[in-house]
Amino acid sequence: MRFSINGDIHEVEVDVRTSLLDLLREHLHLTGSKKGCNQGACGACTVLVDGERINACLALAVQYQGREIITIEGVGTPGQLAAIQAAFVKHDGFQCGYCTPGQICSAIGMAAEAKRGLPSFVSADLSGLSTIDHDELRERMSGNLCRCGAYNGIIDAIREVFVDETTTPVKFEEAA
Ligand code: FES
Ligand code: FES
Repeated sequence: MRFSINGDIHEVEVDVRTSLLDLLREHLHLTGSKKGCNQGACGACTVLVDGERINACLALAVQYQGREIITIEGVGTPGQLAAIQAAFVKHDGFQCGYCTPGQICSAIGMAAEAKRGLPSFVSADLSGLSTIDHDELRERMSGNLCRCGAYNGIIDAIREVFVDETTTPVKFEEAA
């Protein structure tokens, strides 16, 4: 099978039953994406596919050939953090860090969804985004659990990077 991951092409022979998460971690040694629950409940395995966030543990790798897959390894580097990564550091958006790769990939995907005007479960206005408050962001990030409870820092980091509250309706910035 042939995959495009973080801009690199990978050709690997794997069983067709292999999940995208196992492909990344076990076969390509991209271990940033974490296996928390392996059943779609925690979000630790979140990656981006063509800019949309998915749970890699629920995805069969074979279905993602020819798509542009981005993992946390493709978001920034230790010497050059993406803005959202730097914001997580600044706002103490993590403790153990286990959920962090998924949180960051999910935040990037979430911002893109919001920028396209997709409402969340708690959006008061389904026709556009007029308010983005703490609860709205918490709802939009509710698929990503943090057992350390770093939620306030996570939301502060996301808000700083992706939400432009000087505009009405509130605008979401492009993912860096
Ligand atoms: S490991 Fe995929 S959602 Fe928990
Ligand atoms: S920082 Fe530990 S699980 Fe989120």
